[in-house]
Amino acid sequence: MILDAKDVHKSYTVAGSRTDVLRGVSVLLSAGESLALMGESGSGKSTLLHLVAGLDVPDHGKIMVETQNIAVPSDTARAELRRSLVGIIFQQFNLIPSLRVDANIAFQAQLAGRYDAQWCAILAKRMGLSDHLSKYPEALSGGQQQRVAIARALAAKPALILADEPTGNLDEDTAQTVLNLLLEITRETDTALLMVTHSAKHAGALDRQLTLRSGAIN
Ligand SMILES: Nc1ncnc2c1ncn2[C@@H]1O[C@H](COP(=O)(O)OP(=O)(O)O)[C@@H](O)[C@H]1O
Ligand SMILES: [Mg+2]
Repeated sequence: MILDAKDVHKSYTVAGSRTDVLRGVSVLLSAGESLALMGESGSGKSTLLHLVAGLDVPDHGKIMVETQNIAVPSDTARAELRRSLVGIIFQQFNLIPSLRVDANIAFQAQLAGRYDAQWCAILAKRMGLSDHLSKYPEALSGGQQQRVAIARALAAKPALILADEPTGNLDEDTAQTVLNLLLEITRETDTALLMVTHSAKHAGALDRQLTLRSGAIN
């Protein structure tokens, strides 16, 4: 298994009022498998993705990514695990504005000590970015920026890609193109993909679909 999240609980308390967002969620994902995570706004999709990414810690439960539990209290330990184990794609692209496209693609792989120039060039080519490598993100369209983010997420060769509504900011044609590229490249590289989406159509293009409802998976 690439992802084995078991009995994950997470609640938030704001101004003394507690919300149980995840009430015992379990998810399994094997190598190269793609899973669409659906559910209404506020159902906890991003919360689950953040926990799997080690951006936050569950109240209870374990989250094994490959052989490592990323659900540990230490921020530094989680950051280190995140760098080596997962690639993350956000709805808002989150590129670094002051870095050229090539440097954006390489940035996290370099931080993780896993930079491979040849692989970055292959990814850029596959994402149709070869002619844009010396540009800055602001000069690119939304679809191009998200393709940079996909290349960046894959640059360190993680076993798991987490994508939170990666096409939510794109028009439908561009969304379809970006989704197809993401699915092609994760399948070719045997990378597991956990993707949040609102679109039943997009979800249907992935291997499996799950829905979060009332803090549980149905
Ligand atoms: N950091 C946080 N602090 C307090 N409440 C939060 C936080 N993150 C999320 N929530 C709450 O948790 C619930 C689930 O949010 P989220 O995971 O973002 O849902 P989704 O991504 O499915 O729309 C919402 O009620 C949201 O307000
Ligand atoms: Mg969300």
